[in-house]
Amino acid sequence: MADLSTNFLGIKSPNPFWLASAPPTDKAYNVERAFKAGWGGVVWKTLGEEGPPVVNVNGPRYGAIHGPDRRLLGFNNIELITDRPLEVNLREMTEVKKTWPDRALIASIMVPCEEQAWKAILPLVEATGADGIELNFGCPHGMSERGMGSAVGQVPEYIEMVVRWCKQYTRMPVITKLTPNIADIRKPARAANAGGTDAVSLINTINSIVSVDLDNFAPVPSIDGRGSHGGYCGPAVKPIALNMVAEIARDGETRGLPISGIGGITTWRDAAEYIALGCGNVQVCTAAMTYGFKIVQEMISGLSDWMDSRGFKTIEDFRGLAVPNVSDWQYLNLNYITKARIDQDLCIKCGRCYIACEDTSHQAITSMVDGARHFEVIDEECVGCNLCVNVCPVDNCISMVPMTAGVDPRTKQPIKPDYANWTTHPNNPMAKVAAE
Ligand SMILES: Cc1cc2nc3c(=O)[nH]c(=O)nc-3n(C[C@H](O)[C@H](O)[C@H](O)COP(=O)(O)O)c2cc1C
Ligand code: SF4
Ligand code: SF4
Repeated sequence: MADLSTNFLGIKSPNPFWLASAPPTDKAYNVERAFKAGWGGVVWKTLGEEGPPVVNVNGPRYGAIHGPDRRLLGFNNIELITDRPLEVNLREMTEVKKTWPDRALIASIMVPCEEQAWKAILPLVEATGADGIELNFGCPHGMSERGMGSAVGQVPEYIEMVVRWCKQYTRMPVITKLTPNIADIRKPARAANAGGTDAVSLINTINSIVSVDLDNFAPVPSIDGRGSHGGYCGPAVKPIALNMVAEIARDGETRGLPISGIGGITTWRDAAEYIALGCGNVQVCTAAMTYGFKIVQEMISGLSDWMDSRGFKTIEDFRGLAVPNVSDWQYLNLNYITKARIDQDLCIKCGRCYIACEDTSHQAITSMVDGARHFEVIDEECVGCNLCVNVCPVDNCISMVPMTAGVDPRTKQPIKPDYANWTTHPNNPMAKVAAE
């Protein structure tokens, strides 16, 4: 059986599944239940500085986007960092770490962007026995208006400065949690790296308004008739997060920097994708809030079964395998030709592929043959765009099949076996300049 244990920055955990800093990790009661269910580690709900705790709204703090079957696709919140006193959190963290020495316990921290504030909290956290710290530079609402969270995460110079303070004032490994609310994720990652961070984690939530209530004309969730932007997460953000992870994994300056992947992870497959893009472990919030802590059991068994089926003995055996295959568009093989193929035995004749291709793509699917409904690809028109595959309601009914020899019936050009990309294409004016 595959060994799922991980060693992330020297922090050992029995599996790569950590709970992200959020309500599931807000108190010992939750964390104990999570560890009993099988989670490998937790990042405790973000701690603030000593003094009166932050104050949350008392009305609804969550909103969501649902699919037609009411499955939760995207989740939005306007919650702040922990609203429990610092000393209570620290005491509970100490107890939990003592009881669960084999699980990872990371303290997430957000204090003002002043050296003294970081210098003051770090020894208190270290005394709990926590395995590491995560710097919350990501929270996009409430705290950012007070100069913390994403207000820091959007300024690479601040990130570098705070990471340096943390490396100076604690022996604990430092994980820098990045905000996705930025144009180029490589900039904050490079800054964290320059400051000496041991790892980055991403993504925190994305600025969002999930919907507008058309009865009272206020954003949802609305508090007494008003709403503010919140942080978006859940399955809908996974593609954005995967891209950001890949950007960091293949950037010349940050290649090899350990990454903890976060964003929309709901199944073992999601986790495996993050790991294939270089992540040493993953963090989960929305899936636990939607389905409860025991969801980790399916993640563990699914990942383990898949690794066995692929012959991967440890997480390291497949970590990063997808990174070399992430490319800029200009290096994609323009000689790679595919055509859609419809499996007539699986086709339920709904016509969705036809109407999508007819109205918005390349008029490459028949709707009637000999007076009967029949959906078949016309190779002379098909550009291989994959739209029909995506709209077809039947799994594997349409597949994209590569042409490896002969002539492309659409272009009438012979299929070339060699690789050729845009950088040398005759239509590329820059290619001509480069050749001259
Ligand atoms: C209700 C809620 C509260 C959160 N609070 C924090 C927090 O205190 N600190 C933090 O770093 N991230 C916080 N997050 C962000 C999560 O840790 C995580 O980065 C984000 O939700 C993406 O993961 P997911 O798609 O699995 O939910 C919060 C998320 C939610 C939904
Ligand atoms: S791949 Fe694109 S062009 Fe070809 S049949 Fe499907 S939708 Fe039409
Ligand atoms: S969308 Fe799929 S099931 Fe529907 S007609 Fe096309 S191939 Fe058949």
